[in-house]
Order: sequence, then C-alpha cells, then structure tokens
Amino acid sequence: MTPARPVLLVVVHSNTGGTLQMAQAAADAAAAEPGVSLRLLHAAAAQPADVLAAQGYIFATPETLAAMAGLMKDFFDRCYYPVLECLNGRPYAALICAGNDGTNAARQLERIVTGWRLKRIAAPLIIRTGAQTPAEILAPKQIGPKDLSSCAELGATLAAGLAMGVF
Ligand SMILES: Cc1cc2nc3c(=O)[nH]c(=O)nc-3n(C[C@H](O)[C@H](O)[C@H](O)COP(=O)(O)O)c2cc1C
Repeated sequence: MTPARPVLLVVVHSNTGGTLQMAQAAADAAAAEPGVSLRLLHAAAAQPADVLAAQGYIFATPETLAAMAGLMKDFFDRCYYPVLECLNGRPYAALICAGNDGTNAARQLERIVTGWRLKRIAAPLIIRTGAQTPAEILAPKQIGPKDLSSCAELGATLAAGLAMGVF
C-alpha cells in the first residue's frame, strides 16, 4: 500500500483579494510538490477536523484595525481547544497582507500557534500594499510578481520539507 502523503492545509481569509493572491501563490507552489496533498480552505469553512487531518499549515490573513482579520480569529477561536495538544511540533508559516504595517496581526497569530506548539519554518511574510486612504483600502488589491514569488517560495519550502519529513 502506498503511504498517505502529508497534507498541507492553507487557511485563508481576504476582504479585497490581496491575501487570497498570496495564499494562492503559496498553495500553487506547494501543490507542485508531488509528495504532499494540498488543501486550501477559507477560514470560515475550516474545522477542527481539517486542522487535525493536516501535517503542516499556512495561515494567511489581512491585518485589519491592528489585528488579524476577524474571520481568521474566529477560525482560531473555534479550533483552538478542540485540537490543543494534538498538533505539537507540526510546521507552519504565516502570510500577512497589510496596508502599511501587519506586525500586530503577525504577532497575534504567532502567539496563538505557539499555544498549539506549532513549529515556525520562517518569519511571518508580511506584504504591504501601501493602501492608506479609505478608497485605496476598499479597492481590489493586486499583489506584484516579486511578492507573489516570495509567497510561492515559502509554500514550496514548506511542502518540500513536509514531503521529506525534515520538520
Ligand atoms: C477595516 C480595515 C482596517 C485596516 N487596518 C489596517 C491596519 O491596522 N494595519 C494595516 O497595515 N493595514 C490595515 N488595513 C489595510 C489592509 O490590511 C489591506 O487593505 C490589505 O490589502 C487587506 O488584505 P486583503 O486584500 O486580503 O483584504 C485595514 C483595512 C481595513 C478594511
């Protein structure tokens, strides 16, 4: 029997498309690794069973009001205790899309997954769109190719490590 491939779960929320493009770039690169199965779920759809069934994670959220987006926080609120102590040592990476900061969302996310005892494989990747005025903030976002390739690199690295069992 062929052994099951490890699952890399990407959990994403996005209001104006920036975070989704980042998550998709990471997911596409990860999916190119034949040794892993890739799952991408919206934060509102992701359940504790999805978290348990994965061996590695990418969490992708915008920063809003100096915090991770509410629906991503809701994902952690719903899943935190049902899977606590079951994920110890599994690898993760974080993608943050922000206007001009993003550090607080990254800090909050890291603190939560530290409670899950997840192992960070890289510093949080924060992409800043520069949106500052209400019109800019509400407009659909277009993440540039250089930033998308950083997201892809992170996804590929996590997937390759999972496939080789190095984490
Ligand atoms: C209500 C709201 C609050 C925001 N607050 C922040 C903030 O505190 N820091 C920041 O860097 N960007 C902030 N932004 C900008 C978003 O992070 C930025 O528009 C980002 O592209 C959103 O990601 P998305 O395109 O995936 O929705 C805010 C946007 C909204 C709508």
